[in-house]
Amino acid sequence: SAPLRVHAASRGKFIGAALATSPLANESQYRTIAATEFSQVTAENAMKWDSTEPSQGQFNFSGADQIVTFATQNNQQVHGHTLVWHSQTPGWVQSLGATAMRSAMQNHISNVVGHYANNATVTSWDVVNEVFDDNGNMRTSFWYNTLGQSYIADAFRAARAADSNARLCINDYNVEGINAKSTAMYNLVSSLRQQGVPVDCVGFQGHLAIQYGFPSQVQQNMQRFADLGVQVRVTELDVRMIMPRDSTKDTTQATYYRDVVNACLAVTACAGITIWGFTDKYSWVPDTFSGQGAALIYDASYQQKPAYTAVHDALAGG
Ligand code: G3I
Repeated sequence: SAPLRVHAASRGKFIGAALATSPLANESQYRTIAATEFSQVTAENAMKWDSTEPSQGQFNFSGADQIVTFATQNNQQVHGHTLVWHSQTPGWVQSLGATAMRSAMQNHISNVVGHYANNATVTSWDVVNEVFDDNGNMRTSFWYNTLGQSYIADAFRAARAADSNARLCINDYNVEGINAKSTAMYNLVSSLRQQGVPVDCVGFQGHLAIQYGFPSQVQQNMQRFADLGVQVRVTELDVRMIMPRDSTKDTTQATYYRDVVNACLAVTACAGITIWGFTDKYSWVPDTFSGQGAALIYDASYQQKPAYTAVHDALAGG
């Protein structure tokens, strides 16, 4: 039956995947599924600071351009990920003083966003990523510790200056349901917009785990952000499990995927859903959570799992 992107388009949504540069260059099965099933692409790593500006002022877009060229060839949009984050940022940035750090941030945003400002494939950016702790306090990252909270507004203003058309997002994890962290995010977005800071979009990463249960009130949470006037999107969906896989866990996983898709479908301002990869052959999960995995919609042999069927059928209206 029809690929995911066809059904998503008929519902006015995108369906995306994060892509890694190495299998994209080397594996035809990986390329074929990436091209056929998805209408949107995020670089899993290739647009991060350590890839795009490893040394100060030395920009390298080789991996990023590989992703963007693939997307353009396949009539897909690219969501840029990510401009300002505490992880995968070179040591030279982290050791700067406040004045130099602020200008390095603005220069990075100006160059990376500017590189794609006239490229119709790249339509949105995660401007800041993971600025909160799980309790809703600001994360005490090197950004916050050196610059205070003002770096967030400065980053959005720099991104808008570099591309007046790109949709600018704030992105985080454990904010899918209504909880202290998502309420802190809600209050920040509300306050930034009241100050005229150009925040257009909120990204809910969606790194779920069946052993922790499904987050509560996902649709209501999306809707309260939508009511602030921002677009919302699911940016990094995956649903991990404690290994080994079995059919019961697969079924639970499938319901989680289905329920996230249905929440987005129920919220007009939800633009779509991006999955953080697509095959269990390439996933961040086993490297980070020992003994966990199988978080994606294809297995490691590129066979569709029940989670694929669940996403497909939800998008198809079933
Ligand atoms: O590129 C180096 C390579 O040179 C080196 O030999 C190798 C040895 O470990 O590491 C390679 O870098 C790895 C990189 O992925 C590229 O493969 C890093 O070690 C590894 O830590 C890094 O992991 C990425 C992780 O972000 C880092 O925080 C994952 O692939 C990526 O899926 C993950 O994605 C994040 C999102 O950006 C933000 N939200 C959470 C999500 C999951 O953690």
